[in-house]
Amino acid sequence: MTATRIDGKAFAARLRERVGARALEFAEATGRKPGLAVVLVGENAASEVYVRAKGKACVAANMESFEHRLPADTSAQDLLALVERLNADPAVDGILVQLPLPEHLDEQAIIAAISPDKDVDGFHVINAGRLSVGQEGFVPCTPMGCMMLLTDRLGDLSGLDAVVIGRSNIVGKPMAQLLLDANATVTIAHSRTKDLAAVVRRADIVVAAVGRPQMIGKDWLKEGATVIDVGINRLPPEPGADKGRLVGDVAFDEASEVAGAITPVPGGVGPMTIAVLLRNTLVAAYRNAGLDMPEGL
Ligand code: GUN
Repeated sequence: MTATRIDGKAFAARLRERVGARALEFAEATGRKPGLAVVLVGENAASEVYVRAKGKACVAANMESFEHRLPADTSAQDLLALVERLNADPAVDGILVQLPLPEHLDEQAIIAAISPDKDVDGFHVINAGRLSVGQEGFVPCTPMGCMMLLTDRLGDLSGLDAVVIGRSNIVGKPMAQLLLDANATVTIAHSRTKDLAAVVRRADIVVAAVGRPQMIGKDWLKEGATVIDVGINRLPPEPGADKGRLVGDVAFDEASEVAGAITPVPGGVGPMTIAVLLRNTLVAAYRNAGLDMPEGL
């Protein structure tokens, strides 16, 4: 079998178009654009890239982007004061504090200070709790993006065996919850799982979020499995190159010989994260304005 390539980049572009159109309607109805505040503390190079991309994506989707850049030695008190100001600001529908934060700041304490109704990352314990009991809230962007790709490809997931590799609060746990809500039979595997390859080989759906370059090869996969690769790893540079190639947690070429469908890296899950962030910000705007959410997002 040669796997179908799941084009997350194209899917994300379509979602961003729809969100952009709905954001214009929101602005016409309310006299203001949906607004996303992004807070970056310190000078992490990868975070700089993400924050710039989020700001540009907001503007392209007819939303307001508010960027707050704070020095690396910002105190918890000052950061909490900013979060409180953003919580109270009616022009701000969504708040995202870019992680990781510098070491002296307690990430959980900062996330806990964000209003759950503006927590478009879905990281607040209230939103994690809402997801786990099936209440409406905000779902973390990456797993929600994976879920959109899966349902687009497979339709009904009822009764399918799904293995999520990785148990982070941001990806693995919410991913498992979403798959469970969709009636899949879910296993969360991790670094201590015994005979991981055998566990993964049972799966109709594999979601890999481990951060180990090309760890999952073709002999780990069941024929026809749908593989969602959340990993973004940079290989060491080839001689003469200054940067190594980006690869996922799955060895794409060989896995494609066995899988039914697979997301590439780059161009798979990555672009979905920002598209879902825009979607969540639009949802926040509609909820905060007390308006009914439009269909089809
Ligand atoms: N750092 C890497 N990815 C993310 C994300 O999705 N949200 C936030 N807040 N920080 C991140």
